[in-house]
Amino acid sequence: MPHRIAVIPGDGIGLDVTTAALEVLHRALPGGVETVSLDWSCTHYLRTGAMMPPDGIETLRGFDAILLGAVGWPATVPDAVSLHGLLLPIRKAFRQYANIRPHRLLPGVAGPLRKAEIDILCIRENTEGEYSGAGGRVHQGTRDEVAVETAIFTRAGVERILRFAFRQARARSGRLASVTKSNAQRHSMVFWDEMTDLVAAEFPDVEVTRYHVDAMAARMVMAPESLDVVVASNLFGDILTDLGAAIQGGLGFAASANINPDGDAPSMFEPVHGSAPDIAGQGIANPIAAVWSGAMMLDHLGEGAAAARIMAALGRVTGRGIGTLPGRDRTEVITAAILEEM
Ligand code: IPM
Ligand code: MN
Repeated sequence: MPHRIAVIPGDGIGLDVTTAALEVLHRALPGGVETVSLDWSCTHYLRTGAMMPPDGIETLRGFDAILLGAVGWPATVPDAVSLHGLLLPIRKAFRQYANIRPHRLLPGVAGPLRKAEIDILCIRENTEGEYSGAGGRVHQGTRDEVAVETAIFTRAGVERILRFAFRQARARSGRLASVTKSNAQRHSMVFWDEMTDLVAAEFPDVEVTRYHVDAMAARMVMAPESLDVVVASNLFGDILTDLGAAIQGGLGFAASANINPDGDAPSMFEPVHGSAPDIAGQGIANPIAAVWSGAMMLDHLGEGAAAARIMAALGRVTGRGIGTLPGRDRTEVITAAILEEM
């Protein structure tokens, strides 16, 4: 039975990189993936008044996985509308609470640092924390205006992401870095630290180190080789993974997997870069992050060998110097090279 994949190319360069990723997926697993393309996007919003149909979540639920390109086109739909209409509700509705983002230098990619070893796996909490959506505004438009955005950390939510990260650390080097800010945020982050200690007791074989988020930002630049698995709250993880993308050569290389570890709803795979309106439609978007995300999807679906074939091909392509510099090689050139290497 082929895996059934819902494909949401979305906006901007999401369309270009998704086309590339699909070609590679079909080549990696001939006849093994059946895709249904959904045109949910800002264009869909302009036509219908919504980013996806009212039964969108129910439609997606029937698939084995979701492949997403990019969401957002701020010139026509404000980001706060588009992202809350498509990307963020999917992460929450399907309890994709673990956002896995690998930051690794591919062969032939120099990156901005004078470091050759970068292989960090960032585990970002993906459903609550600073993204919980709790809050409101009063006295809007007056001098008394107030805006409140409340970060919500639940015991269930924090324990499960930490456990997930400890398991990842156990499967890799046995080292975990837990990102906190308990020197300033004395409620939520002190709680995060306490939960880290609690869960650590279940994993005596994993060595856990705490870093405040500001110190972690510096460490990722100064000593990235000292890091392996990193676990962080939603917003801290969001910020640190753009930094991770930068040190791995740019957003064109940053892949991600929004995982529902319980397997009771589909997981979603997407490159970290956005829709990049500035280069959309020019055919110069780097498809590597989307292709890498596709490999993560195959791995998640139990197709580890096909995923490994994709990653090996990517390494050979960048090793040949193709796709290693932003904007130099056209999307179709990079895609053709990947297909050729497979
Ligand atoms: C990401 C993105 C999203 C996020 C935005 C587009 C809402 O930056 O996936 O990292 O903050 O999660
Ligand atoms: Mn981000």
